[in-house]
Amino acid sequence: MEALKGIRILDMTHVQAGPTCSQLLAWMGADVIKFENPQGDATRGQLRDVPNADSLYFTMLNCNKRSITVNMKNAEGKQVFVELLKKCDIVMENFGPGVLDRFGFPWEKIREINPRIVMGSIKGFGSTGPYAQFKAYENVAQAMGGAMSTTGVPDGPPFVTGAQIGDSGTGLHLAIGLLAALRQRDRTGKGQYVEVAMMDGIMNLCRVKFRDHQRLTRGELTEFSVPTHKGMGDVPRGGNDSGGGQLGNAVRCKPGGPNDFLYVVVQEAVWNALANRIGSDIGMPGLATDPKFAKIADRRKNQNEMWEVIGEFALKHTKRELMAILNPLDVPCGPVMGTDDLANDEHVRGRDMWVELDHPQRGKWFNVGMPIKLSDSPPEIKRSPTLGEHTEEVLKEVLGYGDEQIAKLKSAGAFSTPPKKVA
Ligand SMILES: CC(C)(COP(=O)(O)OP(=O)(O)OC[C@H]1O[C@@H](n2cnc3c(N)ncnc32)[C@H](O)[C@@H]1OP(=O)(O)O)[C@@H](O)C(=O)NCCC(=O)NCCS
Repeated sequence: MEALKGIRILDMTHVQAGPTCSQLLAWMGADVIKFENPQGDATRGQLRDVPNADSLYFTMLNCNKRSITVNMKNAEGKQVFVELLKKCDIVMENFGPGVLDRFGFPWEKIREINPRIVMGSIKGFGSTGPYAQFKAYENVAQAMGGAMSTTGVPDGPPFVTGAQIGDSGTGLHLAIGLLAALRQRDRTGKGQYVEVAMMDGIMNLCRVKFRDHQRLTRGELTEFSVPTHKGMGDVPRGGNDSGGGQLGNAVRCKPGGPNDFLYVVVQEAVWNALANRIGSDIGMPGLATDPKFAKIADRRKNQNEMWEVIGEFALKHTKRELMAILNPLDVPCGPVMGTDDLANDEHVRGRDMWVELDHPQRGKWFNVGMPIKLSDSPPEIKRSPTLGEHTEEVLKEVLGYGDEQIAKLKSAGAFSTPPKKVA
């Protein structure tokens, strides 16, 4: 039984932010109709690794969807769009500002056509405010939402994070909003407009940085390994500091490769066990009770020295060996896993988080699996559609069109883009 069985989504989204959301909803059982520009989602051709095949950028974000191509700049194409709107529960988009208005379909018009429909929109900065007219990509949102200024080390430049918190993170936010709006629609019979701005989503994910921002008005941030002081304004970049109430950092391990680090949290409760183990190994038997480290406040004050001691111990072991030593002591820790580590990890495979698929253009490939595990709605992960693969199927099955009608629409240019005129 699929959780979202019976929910049909008209998915006009492109690139990453929107498709992340609709892929998740498809994995939960919704019928997602990817409504594409006749040239296709631009990512189909971006960062190609196999000639003439849909790129991994596209295939990894568009599984379990059906693809139809419709030209929204053609009158017949617009009519097909209107008919599909009437048959869908959700319509979603992440176009640049004003694109839907230029098509002639602002939310007010869509609501008029189908008052039950829920509309999801992702914008860089939302539809109101001084930044509303700006386009955005992942790192623009990370720059503007507080992620970049708080990532990195204080004397280095701000850094983006590798996790796509602006695109995929915003997609997750949208999924939550859409599901809530569907619940309300079921009670009231009325759809609503759900908007998530990437900048807002990033700020939400940086919430604890704004905790620190306000704490800075009262005093220093004692848990930071870098100097802070009351009234300094911006929350500084804290390197690999834990950012929470417990001290944490990444310690270098043997043999010293780029990912040979273990992230260790020196949780208050495990200090004694950890210090005794380390102390006996490196010839510091009194480490646990050393006044520089015995209490958490001391460890905060002298944390750089504490990390040096832990670092000396860590360098004698590989990250996996160290994990095996520290986990039995109940020390929260984790090796820095490279993508190759993860793609070959038994735990990851066992949780269906690295899934092998086939594709008519590219052959075998892998996708990251469904991270939300519903006990009664396990996903069956299916490959992404080729461009327009389901145009006829959707027109027939969802709209009840016959061959003749489809042929007429086709010759009127509803599903294609006219060739560019040569001057
Ligand atoms: C991502 C982004 C920067 C890409 O910009 P872009 O490639 O210029 O794309 P836009 O969304 O602005 O425009 C899409 C164009 O395709 C056209 N198009 C889209 N679907 C179409 C269809 N079915 N038929 C005809 N034309 C179509 C639109 O009309 C528009 O052209 P126009 O500007 O002439 O009206 C922009 O879409 C954006 O800011 N989106 C919101 C934030 C976001 O989601 N960003 C993260 C993406 S991962």
